[in-house]
Amino acid sequence: MNDRIPLAIPDLRGNEQAYLARCVADNWVSSAGPFVTECERQMAALAGRAHGVATMNGTTALHLALVGAGVKHGDFVVVPDWTFAATANAVHHAGATPIFADVTEESWTLDPATLERVLARPPGRVGAVVAVHALGHPADIDALAPLCREAGAALIEDSAGAIGARYKGRPAGGLGDLAIFSFNGNKTVTAGGGGMVVTDDADMARRLRALCAQARIGAEYRYEAIGFNYRMTNINAAVLLAQIERLEEMVAAKRQIALHYDDALSGRNDLVAMPRRPWAESACWLYSVLCRNEDDARALVRHMAEREIEARLFWRTLSDQTPYAGAPTALSGMAARLSGTVVSLPCSSSLTAEQQVRVVDALAHFPPRRRVH
Ligand SMILES: Cc1ncc(COP(=O)(O)O)c(C=O)c1O
Repeated sequence: MNDRIPLAIPDLRGNEQAYLARCVADNWVSSAGPFVTECERQMAALAGRAHGVATMNGTTALHLALVGAGVKHGDFVVVPDWTFAATANAVHHAGATPIFADVTEESWTLDPATLERVLARPPGRVGAVVAVHALGHPADIDALAPLCREAGAALIEDSAGAIGARYKGRPAGGLGDLAIFSFNGNKTVTAGGGGMVVTDDADMARRLRALCAQARIGAEYRYEAIGFNYRMTNINAAVLLAQIERLEEMVAAKRQIALHYDDALSGRNDLVAMPRRPWAESACWLYSVLCRNEDDARALVRHMAEREIEARLFWRTLSDQTPYAGAPTALSGMAARLSGTVVSLPCSSSLTAEQQVRVVDALAHFPPRRRVH
């Protein structure tokens, strides 16, 4: 019996234990501490930014970024229709309404042509545009940024899964007005749970840091705004720092896995690897393939499960789901094409060569031949 191969799990082979032990020894276990400060500094540097503000997770980082960008009750925020619910949920938490826009066939990220159409005739004030670097592949920021600038809308990068990615040589997270990261357990770099907002604006960073901690002023119980309790704990930051130290190694491992799977799929048109553009160096967070239809995608997940390999049906469009029924849309069909037909394959940075061979072998035997009696 083969061991089960998981989809994307934490790779904790660095200083995690030592740093966690230090939190206990030094009595720094709560929502402040030296690891938090160091992670903020290192994440800002990684993204080429001046400031980082650590949060509990990527969703709270997005909420904070939207509030920081000035998104207000009654505003609209453009998001891709093909993303994780957190992107749109954070817009709702900020009091705004998402406009679901389509993605391109070339990169599965926000389509600049669609965005241009939306911004030409918006249903109301568009406070921000959230460009998701889908699955670790950067969105085409140089095409999106001028449109946002002209419309007076902040451009926020949802880099939840894109740590380590680069766009035309520049790091993901260093491209829009603000950017966020997630350090959830399935991400390349995990904190257990955690998030980060990065910005170049010192005043913005100060406001975000205050909002994160109930917007309290000084040591007394006085407040400058209605804030949140969104701070990362030093325990999470201890894990995060140990992970950041191994970022390059882990991203390199994921890129290697992607190349291996690319090879295995070359020449097939029933399973098509997620595109990677020449202007992008994808972080290859979740290696995913596009199937011909949903039946094929489900069959692939089953086929893998029978071989003790975890594969997963990926994002579904949000605009046609109950919580967002009735939200404005600008769709041309690509997001719908990806919805329920994309399957993610095992790609943890700790995936062994033998495990990769098992996945490749399982792909080679898909679809299974029908027995002829
Ligand atoms: C695109 C995207 N945005 C936001 C998030 C939210 O991050 P978190 O789970 O840390 O709240 C995720 C998480 O997977 C994501 O994939």
